[in-house]
Amino acid sequence: MWEMLKEAIVAYTGLSPATFFTILALALAFYHAISGFFEPPPPPPRVVEREVLPPPVEVGEITEEELKAYDGTDPKKSLLMAIKGQIYDVSQGRGFYGPGGPYALFAGKDASRALAKMSFEEKDLTGDISGLGPFELEALNDWEFKFMSKYAKVGTIKKTVAATDGPADDSSQTEDAAVKDEGGPSENQDELAHPKEVAVEEVAKE
Ligand code: HEM
Repeated sequence: MWEMLKEAIVAYTGLSPATFFTILALALAFYHAISGFFEPPPPPPRVVEREVLPPPVEVGEITEEELKAYDGTDPKKSLLMAIKGQIYDVSQGRGFYGPGGPYALFAGKDASRALAKMSFEEKDLTGDISGLGPFELEALNDWEFKFMSKYAKVGTIKKTVAATDGPADDSSQTEDAAVKDEGGPSENQDELAHPKEVAVEEVAKE
């Protein structure tokens, strides 16, 4: 068999079998090297980047004014937001509340009124929830429930008592109206009257 092959190589190519196989090996090596140039480079290994957030830092009782420092403009500070006078660390929701995010206007504020009314208006970016209707208060409770279950509570808003010269009047206190409202947050999160319920969770993630 081998003899026949050698004879065939000599007959067909005029080369000795050793020369023939040397040329064949060189040709294959050359092909291999050249074809490597045209292959697309292998995809880089997929690194799953997961930002490691520092644990939430307690801020205790601070004023609405002090809360503004935590609006996400300083990346070294946690991103905070308050509902009904309760401050939550929403750093993990930086996509929502961080600079450029769709809800950045809520960051560093007590956004109770805006959330209750589903409003983005400047005048509603306040913790003052006086005069809201029952449906708005219910919506607010649903938001509170969502925040309580998703984010860590890190402090409370210090009540600001207006310096009036008239008789002491509690209505100027920011937190009280919220505290007075009856019933805790709804147990049924499905009732959340919000368009997000029809949207996809991944929006903020990728
Ligand atoms: C066209 C109207 C709106 C659309 C399509 C929309 C859509 C969304 C979507 C897709 C999410 C992400 C949901 C999730 O991953 O849990 C979201 C979250 C949120 N939305 Fe809206 N939204 C709208 C209006 C509003 C309004 C009017 C407010 C309040 C004034 C609001 C407040 C929020 C808040 C606070 C979150 C973040 C909740 C969290 O921290 O998990 N949205 N929205």
